[in-house]
Amino acid sequence: MLSLFNPPIDTVERLDTASRVFEPARTDYYQGRSGGQLQRLMTARKDFLAVWRQGDYRDKVSDLKMFGRQVVIVNSPEAIKYVVATRHENFERKTPQMRRALEYLLGDGLFISDGETWKQRRPLVSDIVHKNRVPAFGPIMTDTSLELVRRWEELGDGATVNALHEMAGLTAEIISRSVFGNDLGEDAAAAVTEGFTSYQSLIDSINLGYFLGFDEGLPQRRTPSLRRSVKRIHTIIDRVIEDHLAGKGDHNSMVDLLIRRQSRNPELKLDVVALRNEAATIFMAGHETTAATLTWAWYLLSRAPWIEELVHQEIDAVCGGNAPTVADVPKLKWCSAVIEETLRLYPPVPILARQNKQADRIGSIDVKKSSLIMIVPWILHRTPSLFDRPNEFLPERFAEGKRPVPYSYIPFASGPRVCPGLQFGLTESILCLAVIAQRFHVRVKEGHKVEPACRLTLRPKGGLPVTLHKRRGL
Ligand code: HEM
Repeated sequence: MLSLFNPPIDTVERLDTASRVFEPARTDYYQGRSGGQLQRLMTARKDFLAVWRQGDYRDKVSDLKMFGRQVVIVNSPEAIKYVVATRHENFERKTPQMRRALEYLLGDGLFISDGETWKQRRPLVSDIVHKNRVPAFGPIMTDTSLELVRRWEELGDGATVNALHEMAGLTAEIISRSVFGNDLGEDAAAAVTEGFTSYQSLIDSINLGYFLGFDEGLPQRRTPSLRRSVKRIHTIIDRVIEDHLAGKGDHNSMVDLLIRRQSRNPELKLDVVALRNEAATIFMAGHETTAATLTWAWYLLSRAPWIEELVHQEIDAVCGGNAPTVADVPKLKWCSAVIEETLRLYPPVPILARQNKQADRIGSIDVKKSSLIMIVPWILHRTPSLFDRPNEFLPERFAEGKRPVPYSYIPFASGPRVCPGLQFGLTESILCLAVIAQRFHVRVKEGHKVEPACRLTLRPKGGLPVTLHKRRGL
């Protein structure tokens, strides 16, 4: 038997996880020439990961001009602490990019709000998804994963599926049952999920107006297809909320918790629209991220079967033949380490972008008001001075309570705006991984080239085709 945290040295091959360190062919990106700037902006619009240069993977703060706009890249733990914690009030604001892209769908939902609205709503949403509530949602996580496992079993050994679509379906179902309750119905749940997916594909990922001088950016164009997506989502969510307000609907759901909080604290003034905005925010923030985490975990495990073997041994030792439950999660230490290492190499939110309210100074850089501040977990997590062998998949970094240097590992962000669903997302990822890995080996389809691509979240471009193989003896 392999020891859990000390795999034999010869099995720890060098696994270069498709690190994307680019030296641009043109050298004028940083030199203020508008041709280079436009090229960089257009590259970022198509693929945000393609714009980084070797020098960006250093523990430092740097800046550049994009047309008239100052862009500051913050890649040192001390400077990150300064931005997200010490000077949170000055840097709490999301960029016009993010606000403009999501406001049509999420209104003043927590993800894009700031100032008083954010201060008032943050404790409310944090309480709804708080770690103490996670065990109550555990059975939804296990049961929904088991439904997927049963469906896969019927496909037969060696079947091919797209892991990204499968994981997106799984996590959408989990968050939908958690937020709206079990009564939403399959068709409505699918319509909400499709609505969110199409909304994301239709919005502009770069707000050119912001770079051209409009501090608040320019409004997102509301095309007929975008309007259709939004209307579909809003209509369904409003109906659920109205049912709950009328005393109907699942009392264990997050929507019900939100409504009960509102009736205890009427000063919150959460009307149907505000309730819808928060429910939609939790749905969106909580579904894509876990789907991406699980998809990348299958990719990494497929390339490191010696680590997968340890995952299987642990699940068998902890759960025997029973399906893993939320009570098993604290004992699934190797599965947790695999998820944490996956979040390091492929952070689902690879960029945290902010707009500072007032001029400031980060490290040695003077920052003008309304600049674009970028903390990029994608580069931070692969910075050689912060992580030994940064491009290798080594879950043992997180074994036996080991933690990276503070503010060097931030897949859930950090400071007052840290992800309130951190414990929900971690538990869900570990549990879904364990339920599925108990039954299956997942292998990336032979010959498929995996390429990370980033829009709102970091995903494998075109999905991840995998083959499914039942574990022997099960
Ligand atoms: C592996 C899973 C997850 C990851 C990696 C993740 C990551 C993040 C990150 C990085 C942020 C901050 C974004 C920024 O500041 O620009 C965030 C915010 C947020 N997340 Fe998560 N998240 C995950 C799961 C969840 C889940 C399951 C929920 C809800 C059930 C959730 C709810 C939220 C909300 C409401 C915010 C906005 C918080 C605020 O602005 O105050 N997340 N998440």
